Amino acid sequence: MKIAVIQGPNLNMLGVREQQVYGPMKLEQIHAQMKEFAGQNEVEIEFFQSNLEGEIVDRIQECYGDTDGIIINAAAYTHTSIAIRDAISAVNLPTIEVHISNIHRREEFRKDNMIAPVCTSSIVGFGPFGYHMAMVGMLQIMSEVQAAKEAQKQVAEAAVAK
Ligand code: DQA
Repeated sequence: MKIAVIQGPNLNMLGVREQQVYGPMKLEQIHAQMKEFAGQNEVEIEFFQSNLEGEIVDRIQECYGDTDGIIINAAAYTHTSIAIRDAISAVNLPTIEVHISNIHRREEFRKDNMIAPVCTSSIVGFGPFGYHMAMVGMLQIMSEVQAAKEAQKQVAEAAVAK
């Protein structure tokens, strides 16, 4: 199983930017923890960060046919980007959206969310721990997808045997 972790603008500044909102952890530390958890669960994981909308769209498109699930923090683009929303919708993969802060109790403009309606789930306000929750959630989704595929296969095999 392969998961892509896609991080949007200014998340490369974690540990420096607005520590009272995002805490002291750097992105590299968050990724190191995710990598360790992935290794323990035999999951392949790839990390990507960009400050550019089009690069994020490209990275999401690359997941098609190559990756089983996406964990994304689109950061400020969450509130504006129809292009990122459409890319998530296009690849149609299990996608979990993470926000370190609780975007619902901040400025009004952060309540607009273009991404959430096309994601499988959203995790907000847990700090960097939200990424770990997303990994656990993704494993659960994957095992459900696997179970559904096996059930389908059995139905198909039973139909052929008749
Ligand atoms: C964020 C919330 C966004 O509103 C903000 O623009 C970010 C980070 C979060 O993780 O809490 O850059 O996505």
